[in-house]
Amino acid sequence: MGEPLLKGAALNKMILTVTMNPCIDKTVYVTAHQHGGVNRSERVTRIAGGKGVNVARTVRALGENAVALVCVGGHAGRSILDMMADDGIPTVPVWLKDESRAVTTILEADSDNHAQTSYVEPGAPISPSARLTLFARYERLLETSSLVVLTGPAPDPTSTDIYAEMTRLAKWRGIPVFLDSRGDVFRRAVEEVPTLVKPNDAEAAEWLGVERIEDESDERAVVRKLRERGIEWVVLTLGARGALAAVGDVEYRAMPPRAPIVNPIGSGDAMLGAMAVAWTRGESVERIIRHGMAAGAANASVWDACGITPEQVEPLVDQVELSTLSQPPLG
Ligand SMILES: Nc1ncnc2c1ncn2[C@@H]1O[C@H](COP(=O)(O)OP(=O)(O)OP(=O)(O)O)[C@@H](O)[C@H]1O
Ligand SMILES: [Mg+2]
Repeated sequence: MGEPLLKGAALNKMILTVTMNPCIDKTVYVTAHQHGGVNRSERVTRIAGGKGVNVARTVRALGENAVALVCVGGHAGRSILDMMADDGIPTVPVWLKDESRAVTTILEADSDNHAQTSYVEPGAPISPSARLTLFARYERLLETSSLVVLTGPAPDPTSTDIYAEMTRLAKWRGIPVFLDSRGDVFRRAVEEVPTLVKPNDAEAAEWLGVERIEDESDERAVVRKLRERGIEWVVLTLGARGALAAVGDVEYRAMPPRAPIVNPIGSGDAMLGAMAVAWTRGESVERIIRHGMAAGAANASVWDACGITPEQVEPLVDQVELSTLSQPPLG
């Protein structure tokens, strides 16, 4: 094993997150959005965004070591790295030729429901040479990682196999893999049997090839289908309606505590980060689910994605309603 890519990193205790398509997550506050008009704003916020970035932010906030492997390009890429450094997130970049994207959200402060309109730019593609660098860095980081979180979409169609390959490499080393993606990236990585998958209802419907998950019987069916692939932990999240989880042969229904809702985007990332932290601390299955639900609810009550603190999460853990469902054996 050579020099660690990150100096001072705690050996073998790092939670590694991967983000192929991070962004500058920009919020423009306006009083009321006028389509086709000039919308002046007196407040703009920018944070480093992307699902793995959010997960790493959560892991750090909750007190464990994280490192974020990110593909970035251009001025926007440099900004993303600067903002991650400001947030204290240890980051390993892979540089791309093209500019990283921005996701711009127009938030209407005066509207009753604080309406949000988002503009999502295309991501920077991962070239064959960047891909080689990405895998070289990934394999080096695996040497000091205790858990890997693979999240978010691929920026281009040739990159949809990257998480499948990364799942295989981590599992070969005996490192657990949490997967949260959609479309072909999710489908292909599921074939490699990650340790935990966390689709939301739309992602699960897409995997199943159906329009939507209609009711509890559909929810249980898709969870069982994923379990039948040999995936030990399946967590289907349902926003404010909580989650259905299957771990081994036990199914759980979990309801988050009620929290004032400010912005639920990123609740899935907060949940995944908190579950990775609880897993790393050797908590029980029930406690891991509870921590995930609590962090998801805490995230929904703040504006910045995963801008949560242990003081916000901890009181919610015991307020999660968790019950087991009876389940016929897998066959
Ligand atoms: N409005 C809410 N109130 C309370 N808890 C919430 C709310 N929204 C989400 N949560 C919690 O967070 C978990 C994950 O949320 P959700 O299903 O929205 O994930 P997601 O769609 O993957 O989100 P994202 O991809 O934006 O991070 C839920 O299972 C729930 O525990
Ligand atoms: Mg999600």
